Amino acid sequence: MKKREIHIVGNWKMNQTLVEISDFFIEMTKMKMDLKCKAWIAPQFIHIPILKEIAFTTGMIGIGAQNCSEHDNGAFTGEVSVDALADIGAEFVIIGHSERRSIFGETNALLNTKVIKALENDLKVIYCVGETLEERESGKTFDVVKSQIEEGLKDIPEAKRNLLLIAYEPVWAIGTGKTATSQEAEAVHAYIRGLLVALKDETVILYGGSVKPSNIAELLACPNIDGALVGGASLKASDFKQLCIAGSMQ
Ligand code: PGA
Repeated sequence: MKKREIHIVGNWKMNQTLVEISDFFIEMTKMKMDLKCKAWIAPQFIHIPILKEIAFTTGMIGIGAQNCSEHDNGAFTGEVSVDALADIGAEFVIIGHSERRSIFGETNALLNTKVIKALENDLKVIYCVGETLEERESGKTFDVVKSQIEEGLKDIPEAKRNLLLIAYEPVWAIGTGKTATSQEAEAVHAYIRGLLVALKDETVILYGGSVKPSNIAELLACPNIDGALVGGASLKASDFKQLCIAGSMQ
C-alpha cells in the first residue's frame, strides 16, 4: 500500500473535439470500475466547463487546466487567469510542462510566479520538471531538476504546500514512445523527494513520458512514483481506463 494516493492525470494538450469528448465519456461510463485512485483530466481551457458537467454526472474525474497566466487580470489578450479557472471550478493546473518551457520560453522564474499565484488561489498545482536528452547524456539530469525545483518552487506559501504535486517528465520520453526505465525514473523521483525537505513524505510525485497500459504497473511499483501524467494514452478511453485500473490496484 502506497503512503500517497495514486493520481492518474490525462493531459489532453490541444486535442479532442466535443464529439470525441462525448465518445470518451460514453466509453468511460460503460466500463464499470471501482476507482480507488484519483483520475484527473486537463482538457483545453474552453472545454473545462463541459468536462466539469460530465465529470459531475459521472462522479469519476477531476478537471483542471494545462496552464494559467502569471498575472492577476488586465490587458493580457489571450491569457487565462487563475481567478477565472477557480471561478469555473478547475481543481488543478499543470504548470511548467516541457512544451511550455521549450515552445513558449517559460523560465523557472516565470513559472515560480504562476505556481505562487495558483496556490494562493487554492488551486492544486502539478509542477513539471525534467531534462532534455542532451542534458541526460551529459550527466546533468540531477542539476537540471534541482534548479527547476529550487527556482520554480521558491518561496511558495508554506500553508499551501499540501496543494502541490510534482511531475517528473524526461523531455526525451514525452510523445516519443521511449519511457525512462523504472530504475531511471525512480532514481530521479527519490532525488526530488530528497529536495522537498519540508513535505518529503506527503508530496505526490508523478512520472510522465510515454506512459501506457503496458508500462504503468512497473512504474507504479516504484516506491517514489505516485502516479502518472499521461499525454497520448489519455486520449483513448480504453487506455485511460486501463491506467486508472492499474492506479486503483496500488
Ligand atoms: P506522452 O505525454 O504521454 O504523450 O508522452 C506526456 C506529457 O506530455 O505530459
